[in-house]
Amino acid sequence: MSAPARQSRERTAYDVERVRADFPILAREVNGHPLAYLDNGASAQRPQSVIQAEARYYEHSHANVHRGVHTLSQEATAAYEAAREKVRAFVNAASEREVIFTRGTTESINLVAQSYARPRLKPGDEILVSWLEHHANIVPWQLVCQQTGAQLKVAPIDERGELRVAEFERLLSPRTRLVALAHVSNALGTILPVRELIAMARARSVPVLLDGAQAVPHLSVDVRDLDVDFYAFSSHKMYGPTGVGVLYGREALLESMPPWQGGGDMILTVTFEKTTYNALPHKFEAGTPNIAGVIGFGAAIDYLLGVGLERIAAYEHELLEYGTARLAAIAGLRLIGTARAKAALLSFVLDGVHAHDLGTILDADGIAVRTGHHCAMPVMDFFGVPATVRASLALYNTRAELDRLAAGVERARQVFR
Ligand SMILES: Cc1ncc(COP(=O)(O)O)c(C=O)c1O
Repeated sequence: MSAPARQSRERTAYDVERVRADFPILAREVNGHPLAYLDNGASAQRPQSVIQAEARYYEHSHANVHRGVHTLSQEATAAYEAAREKVRAFVNAASEREVIFTRGTTESINLVAQSYARPRLKPGDEILVSWLEHHANIVPWQLVCQQTGAQLKVAPIDERGELRVAEFERLLSPRTRLVALAHVSNALGTILPVRELIAMARARSVPVLLDGAQAVPHLSVDVRDLDVDFYAFSSHKMYGPTGVGVLYGREALLESMPPWQGGGDMILTVTFEKTTYNALPHKFEAGTPNIAGVIGFGAAIDYLLGVGLERIAAYEHELLEYGTARLAAIAGLRLIGTARAKAALLSFVLDGVHAHDLGTILDADGIAVRTGHHCAMPVMDFFGVPATVRASLALYNTRAELDRLAAGVERARQVFR
């Protein structure tokens, strides 16, 4: 979208029907009903511009990147690196050297665990996470703790699903070597007070990684303003292709870290005696990357900026309030996660109906929700439930879809009564 077109769209009122028209999949039916896609926290849908960007690349410019003098390779490299610049600007990183392309949030966190934490950790050192983490921000730390003798510490949450900040601060000890926290919880929607938490860690010279997988599609993120050391996120939750993610890292920290994976592109010279490594960010991008995916990701960022992050946040918040009121009015329904600062996500259980049964009933009505533990089993344990139903909203969802959700849940309640 051209700059003037984008600006004029920013000025106009939020037109959800126009946004919906950009997403071809939303026109389809599921089980004889219009699709109501409320599983965006797991993976969002793609606008036509993202689909086209990938297709155009394959039709027109595909070749490997960084390696060829021929025209196609240069075109592919230019498009790939242009996407890196879009990501840099999107999160306001100081330099493109701080933007590493990975397969997703999971790989980004594992990279930090293995390349930053592992060489530094000694037995008895601590890594501090919170109780509301996705497994992707728990297991990599458990692995590195097993490898080094370090310990994983967990800051507790309360009944609303908010982090107990005083407890978090108490757990920051002289042995804490890294703090790793969700920016937004995928199971509860809680938006953590990351600015305050980062300041507490920084006061003790402890670096902080934020898992931004659920934040970037909904909030405007500025890594320099946050003063965060590492920030991990995935393209597919922000309307881009799967298999692409980002690790933002402060340049000085990335410089100090050894490469994680070895192979092509991450080297300068190789002999059997000694290998020298490429400069940032390529040092951490071994092998042929997901070139088409990265280019599609660039198009997704253009799309998000075109609609406008602040307008998206305001619209989604309105949807959240509407959906919360609709669901809270249903007898026997318990909302799980009622944080005061919350992204547009509704996790709930219904008395006498298993989450999976409810999900199946809703699917018969064309409504796609997530059911299960949402890769956050400790959160389920905390609330004493095996699973929840989760409706996670996006920029194209509507009040009418939330009405359908509430009606479907009400119908299920009647059936199981
Ligand atoms: C908070 C959070 N962290 C990490 C992940 C993992 O993301 P990915 O599967 O894209 O690596 C997810 C995905 O659901 C998530 O919601």
